Amino acid sequence: MYPLRRNRRLRASEAIRGLVRETIITPNDFLVPLFVVEGKGVKDEISSMPGYYRYSLDLLEKEVKELWALGLKSVLLFVKVEDSLKDNSGKEALNPNGLMQRAVKKVKDAVPEMLVMTDVALDPYSTYGHDGIVSEGEIINDDTNAVLAEMALSHAKAGADFVAPSDMMDGRVFEIRSLLEDEGFDKTGIMSYSAKYASAFYGPFRDALDSAPGFGDKKTYQMDPASRSEAIRETLMDIEEGADIVMVKPGLCYLDIVRDIREAVDVPVAVYQVSGEFAMLKAAAAKGWLDHDQVLLEQLISIKRAGATVIASYFAKDAVRLIS
Ligand code: PBG
Repeated sequence: MYPLRRNRRLRASEAIRGLVRETIITPNDFLVPLFVVEGKGVKDEISSMPGYYRYSLDLLEKEVKELWALGLKSVLLFVKVEDSLKDNSGKEALNPNGLMQRAVKKVKDAVPEMLVMTDVALDPYSTYGHDGIVSEGEIINDDTNAVLAEMALSHAKAGADFVAPSDMMDGRVFEIRSLLEDEGFDKTGIMSYSAKYASAFYGPFRDALDSAPGFGDKKTYQMDPASRSEAIRETLMDIEEGADIVMVKPGLCYLDIVRDIREAVDVPVAVYQVSGEFAMLKAAAAKGWLDHDQVLLEQLISIKRAGATVIASYFAKDAVRLIS
């Protein structure tokens, strides 16, 4: 008898589609990246990220209140550091009164319950635009780790709930976890960029922070886009070293990796839908070539369906508008 199974029965109306839907996006899924600059009353649009801004601390306060009101309860802070404060040692990164440290306090004062994560990496502070200390054209792993651990501690002291090392040095999660424990910050979490690829999709972010590498590229520390098993190895090591949340980055091109990792680990998996992904959709939508909202929802659902527990996304506010 033809056919006993007709799959279209489960697609016949919005009601039945909704009833059987397996993947649902909520405001709880999002981690909102925020760019912070010195100054007063600054809300500076990033040229390659239309509709996304760098905020001075006073306007950052306003923005996080708005996020909280929308149900967006977690932020990931990045700072744009003045050129005069950059060097090859990351000294400014450890300044207890540096921009990041003040930004953490500002957000916590404005919205005490907001979950605050901080970027831990040297590139915004580096004259070379690299994520580590440079010597003779090389990025020095272990010396960098020592600074990253101090930087993480400084963020924890300022009130960060989680630190997020995005540098891809070997062993940095262990160094950070150890120093945090030694100093009594056992409650401070680590979200580690575990499988972070050497991607050209980071271009607009480097515009936002003026942090593009001054020489070479990041291929000796970020992963080769062609590798797959290495992503699992990196991630399992980060968990062993004490990471609470692991991350895959970028998002859409790497959803196979997200699924691999989801199946290999039992901690939350974050996916970073990065600046280049944001720029691509904004540009295509501005030309009228793609339906911004529909494509966005499809992308976010796909990221979550692949296995993301947390989505770091510049589209978080758009997403909340679309799902509420
Ligand atoms: C640097 C860092 C980068 C991003 C987050 N942290 C850029 C890089 O590695 O060069 C990229 C985020 C994005 O593109 O949205 N430690």
